[in-house]
Amino acid sequence: MEKYYYIQTFGCQMNVHDSQKIAALLEGAGYKATGQASKADLIILNTCSIREKAAQKVYSQLGRFKDHKIQNPHLIIGVGGCLAQQWGEKFFKKVPYLNIVFGTHTIQNLPELIKNVKNSPSRHIADTAFRSRGRLVEGNSSLLVLGKTSAYVTIMQGCNNFCAYCVVPYLRGPEESRELIDIVKEVENLAAQGVKEITLLGQNVNSYGQTLPIKTDFALLLRSLSTVEGIERIRFTTSHPKDLSPELIRCFAEVDTLCEHIHLPVQSGSDEVLRKMNRRYTKEDYLQKVAALRAACPDISITSDVIVGFPGETDADFEETIDLLEKIRFDNLFSFKYSEREVTAAVKFDHKVSERIKNVRLKFLQLLQEQHTLDKNRAMLGKVLEVLVENRSKGSAGEVMGRSRTNKIVNFTGGSELIGKTLPVFITHAYQHSLHGELQQERGREKCS
Ligand code: 5AD
Ligand code: SF4
Repeated sequence: MEKYYYIQTFGCQMNVHDSQKIAALLEGAGYKATGQASKADLIILNTCSIREKAAQKVYSQLGRFKDHKIQNPHLIIGVGGCLAQQWGEKFFKKVPYLNIVFGTHTIQNLPELIKNVKNSPSRHIADTAFRSRGRLVEGNSSLLVLGKTSAYVTIMQGCNNFCAYCVVPYLRGPEESRELIDIVKEVENLAAQGVKEITLLGQNVNSYGQTLPIKTDFALLLRSLSTVEGIERIRFTTSHPKDLSPELIRCFAEVDTLCEHIHLPVQSGSDEVLRKMNRRYTKEDYLQKVAALRAACPDISITSDVIVGFPGETDADFEETIDLLEKIRFDNLFSFKYSEREVTAAVKFDHKVSERIKNVRLKFLQLLQEQHTLDKNRAMLGKVLEVLVENRSKGSAGEVMGRSRTNKIVNFTGGSELIGKTLPVFITHAYQHSLHGELQQERGREKCS
């Protein structure tokens, strides 16, 4: 009899990629994917706990799966990811009908845990130990990328930065980089399977290489990967401003396959707040790095993250953030209200900001950013962008969607035979979240010269 798994992912691209690895492991163990939780023999939730809201979503989803468990007592429910790492065994006290808790370092043990839980009298197994992965071997990449043109590649795990608000270093462990040669081999393997675009993943990719016995750096990794035949586009996420080196900035001008987009979380425009956050750069440092990026690559699109209402943030501090937004005019921005996370340094900080003030600041900032995003999108009108087609468009039949090198979503008329193709598209309409265009017969490029 066939066995089905249902997997749900919360949080960042790192988790999306971890879920792909989990799916590959489960398929290797004989499970088949289903989109219906009610049909599944195994439900996996890959969780996030970066903010309280993310954690709440996981608990309410688990609540919904309780009914499935009542109807099918053989159903196995497992949780992985950051929230699982945080709670370990204690998760069973919170959610007694849960069967497996696995951590951010123990994904590869999942098939064994599933076997063991079937024989365990309590039907509870937790495995959240931190282990150095050494020469980390990725999952079965042929299963991960089957028929896909884009793929994620993990280049490092963990984080050593300990920003005062952030749980990641506690839940994903210390920074560890993969060997450069292993990454190049993996990318060659992906290219051989038809992948054209890779996104390099890590909590802080531009400190890549610091933990390796033979020191290397991120710029060198990018240059090595640019020689892999068949890879047309390289992206990466996420970067820390303090580690954005002149060598990396130069890559944007010189490495042809490196896409003209950087996600560079700033978090705040106030030097005092940045100091308390332990970010180790000032507003002026950040402005200078952005100026250097734009000098090297005038068309680069820059996106960022901001937290409002960090403990002690005054009106004047918030105005510094607004001033930074006005000066930079980001292509897009992810903005969050500060959310208190257990174990982080900021828990002990005085002068917590009220929910009301956080809401007001968030709304103000988001309205301003909406205008900037729309202006940036409107600036694309009449241009020809190189679009890598990813899928059929969700909303409109007879259309496909893809991304420009600057990571803007572009929809245009076309059929599924265009999926996987890199095509020039003339932009005719600009909206808040996407662009619309028409296919051009002649190929164009937006690479900065
Ligand atoms: N509260 C609010 N936002 C947070 N982030 C990380 N930790 C917190 C927190 N405790 C945001 C940061 C980070 C993004 C991934 O999530 O902006 O860059
Ligand atoms: Fe968290 Fe800071 Fe590390 Fe990013 S760099 S994962 S915000 S501690």
